[in-house]
Amino acid sequence: MQNAGIAALGLNWRYLAFEVHPDNLRAAIQGAKAMKFVGLNLTVPHKLLAVEMVDALDESARTWGAVNTIRFEARDQDGIWQPLQTFADSIPNEIRAQGFNTDASGITRSLREDLQIDLAGAKVLLLGAGGAGRVAAMKLATEQVSELFLVNRTPAKAEALAVELRQRFPATKVFVSYPPHAVDLVLNATSLGLKPEDGSPLDETQFSLTQASAVYDMIYRPAETPLLRAAKASGCRVANGLGMLLYQGAEALEIWTGRTAPIDTMRAALLKNIYGN
Ligand code: ATR
Repeated sequence: MQNAGIAALGLNWRYLAFEVHPDNLRAAIQGAKAMKFVGLNLTVPHKLLAVEMVDALDESARTWGAVNTIRFEARDQDGIWQPLQTFADSIPNEIRAQGFNTDASGITRSLREDLQIDLAGAKVLLLGAGGAGRVAAMKLATEQVSELFLVNRTPAKAEALAVELRQRFPATKVFVSYPPHAVDLVLNATSLGLKPEDGSPLDETQFSLTQASAVYDMIYRPAETPLLRAAKASGCRVANGLGMLLYQGAEALEIWTGRTAPIDTMRAALLKNIYGN
């Protein structure tokens, strides 16, 4: 996805994957800085650790308490920090790492573009209160959903998340239960559906999919989870988590390049690499 995007922008860059032990994360970031990398993406478990290891945090990383994108920067003639890619030939030696988070905005962009959901005022059933569920819940509340129903295998985790949400976002009504009425969106943020033997994370004796306008599953492999299959059969609009992956990556590329990401090219590369078509 990133290399396709980089090529479409005509940049002589390469996006490479490195496996880094968490004990070596600080050294890896320092090394990338020393080698004047343009930037980095980080995934689990590095996203939380990196918050303490970067030199500056963009508001997105501060808000979500996690860094999935780093941009390396140096001072221009006026002493203002600029992305390394803006320095034509000689990059100064003093470089800083700025941390960003593009995951949360990837969720809402995918919901908007792939499901045509208008989140402000929406009623949402969120399945899962783990790492991904927590960020999704916070982001949905930030977008001013009117009602948020939380369901999790371990109810205490959903309860704890609800307490936090009610404190921070009083405008959103938060319940720890299945909804007693129709909702605009069911969002799966559990890992149930990843494995071939997995069932659906939704208990249909508690909530019927005929009561949902749209269903989003953060899982993108397999392309169609049991939840999405059932949702489709019930006539819901459906989308899987590929859009989240795409949009968080596109925003990272925009952070590094300062240019609009070639979304269609990146989506095509993602589809080809993940599903082979
Ligand atoms: P992630 O970072 O992907 O969110 P996580 O923090 O481990 O990973 O959260 C996984 C989520 O999937 C949790 O909501 C988890 O429920 P618990 O909080 O009860 O553990 C949920 N989950 C995982 N396996 C599940 C299963 N077999 N049935 C129902 N929910 C499951």
